[in-house]
Amino acid sequence: MKNDVKKILFSNEEVVIRSKELANQINKDYAGKKPILVGLLKGSVPFMAELLKYIDLYCQTEYMVVSSYHGGTQSSGEVKIVKDIDVSIKDRDILIVEDIVDTGITLNTIVKLLKHRGARSVEIACLLNKEARRVVPVDVKYTGFFIPDEFVIGFGLDYNEMYRNLPYVGVLKEEVYQRRNA
Ligand code: PRP
Repeated sequence: MKNDVKKILFSNEEVVIRSKELANQINKDYAGKKPILVGLLKGSVPFMAELLKYIDLYCQTEYMVVSSYHGGTQSSGEVKIVKDIDVSIKDRDILIVEDIVDTGITLNTIVKLLKHRGARSVEIACLLNKEARRVVPVDVKYTGFFIPDEFVIGFGLDYNEMYRNLPYVGVLKEEVYQRRNA
């Protein structure tokens, strides 16, 4: 599997250090609060696990499955809730945990939804932020790394459901997806 990686963008050590820095900031910002961390499956799992090791707060963890279809024009996109959270978020502080923000369509929709349900605050923590690809605005409070528009895999990120288990963030070799699309 590792032979399919063209280059490593962020080593496991770099991801761990950065996750710890973000968790420390979250600990300060949410001091005295009891936030609900909402992970979007499946990509957020390794980053959520890493953050949680260093979060020293009374916090709940919940998960949603959303599927995004970014078809048609660039600014349109359909976000479907496949599995919802089943706790009340009224007057709660929500921190959405995500592996990557790309076009922003997924997060823009989910933030609006959770605010509409009466959350007191809704913020985002993402491991990777591909700002160059944004088509709708998303206010990301905690970003691990800003990245260029490359095909990234690992630490939760997949290509055809594979590579999520790579312990680092890497770039996939072009020949891997060219082979498949041939
Ligand atoms: C990925 C990622 C985000 C979304 C970001 O999820 O985890 O949820 O795409 O893209 P956007 O900013 O363009 O909306 P994906 O649908 O691939 O599901 P996964 O987490 O199961 O990999």
